[in-house]
Amino acid sequence: MKRLQGFKNSSILYTGAGFEKSLGRRPQDSEMGAITNGAIVYETTSTRPHGEIVWVGSSDAIPAAYQSAHFQDLNGKQAIIPGLIDSHTHLVFGGNRAGEFAERCGGVSYEEIAKRGGGIRHTVRSTRALSEDALFEIANARLDQRRKLGIRGIETKSGYGLSLDSELRILRVNRRLAEQNPDFRFHSTFLGAHDFPDDLPREDYLKLIVNEMIPEVAKQKLADSCDVFIDRGFYTLDEGRLILETAIKHGLPVRVHADELVNTESAKLAADLGALSADHLLKISDTGIQALAHSDTIATILPGTAFYLKTAQAPARKLIDAGARVAIATDFNPGTSVTHHLPFMLTISALYQGMTRAELFAAVTYNAACALGWEKTAGTLTPGKDALITVLPFGSFEETYYEMSWIP
Ligand code: NIG
Ligand code: FE
Repeated sequence: MKRLQGFKNSSILYTGAGFEKSLGRRPQDSEMGAITNGAIVYETTSTRPHGEIVWVGSSDAIPAAYQSAHFQDLNGKQAIIPGLIDSHTHLVFGGNRAGEFAERCGGVSYEEIAKRGGGIRHTVRSTRALSEDALFEIANARLDQRRKLGIRGIETKSGYGLSLDSELRILRVNRRLAEQNPDFRFHSTFLGAHDFPDDLPREDYLKLIVNEMIPEVAKQKLADSCDVFIDRGFYTLDEGRLILETAIKHGLPVRVHADELVNTESAKLAADLGALSADHLLKISDTGIQALAHSDTIATILPGTAFYLKTAQAPARKLIDAGARVAIATDFNPGTSVTHHLPFMLTISALYQGMTRAELFAAVTYNAACALGWEKTAGTLTPGKDALITVLPFGSFEETYYEMSWIP
């Protein structure tokens, strides 16, 4: 059954449609597609779980065919933007690492904690200890918080299982989250190469990923992409290349946790492989910046991670000025970025990375959609695209990052 719904009398509506022409490079205010007193109409059908946008324009010019839609009147008080997309999270895990956080605050480094078996491997132990149902409930509650913050699209990785069974379990939780939350659009990422497990020699685990895990994940269609954490103390550039090339052979798009703790030229590898995104980039070199700028690979910066690790932010200004397509995400995870607050990430990037309003806007809408391979179906408020719509509790887009860490 078809049903027409919509919003009218927004204070302002931004379609973001201009970014489709510039592909999100060097975003400009004029590309935000502002419509004062904007309205939007969308249709829900049984075959299109997120709904489909059918019309966008001024509330004074709603066509006769859509006048009878079920409208929510925003009385000029709230702004409408394309649904916020968080294109890098680790949503599914058990336990927490508050104890390690206290140690880090006392001066022990993230890498030191990882070396002695804490960090990711700590969370692997607490994740493996939980049932699939328990993991689902925890992640579903996290999603509730995100819904209130206006987030409508989300990428979520495995990576706290590090065995065939437990990685598949996390990916099945991702699938169940997607099935039970049709108001969100999901992108599930296989990150078996997040760390090495305690119970298997390094070489054996690498073989397991390449020979068993990737083929099985691809066969069961449990992931939309494959990721690797290439860094000092984790996967080497060559190991990362092998894993990513294997994923590509199995039809999986790829993305990379790149140049986070040290520079490994993994952002360049991501660009060379035509990855959807290269993420983190705290230690990216000028070579890496140029490689991303001359590729379609999205440069995803994670301001919460640098903030939480107390390190310098990724060179967003340099990336954007060079022509790279920049997205911003939370990197929500128990070790380096414990937050769901995507709008607060914009506050950090505005203040410490010198990003403009249009750059911030594109980074959590169109460019974030491109990082998930959704450029044709999400990221802007354009007829034909999925009806992922965020109605802000504010009258302007700027207020989403002006008020620090607002409570919905
Ligand atoms: O994205 N960099 C690797 N992975 C996560 C951290 C995971 C953890 O510490 O649990 C990140 O920062
Ligand atoms: Fe991450």
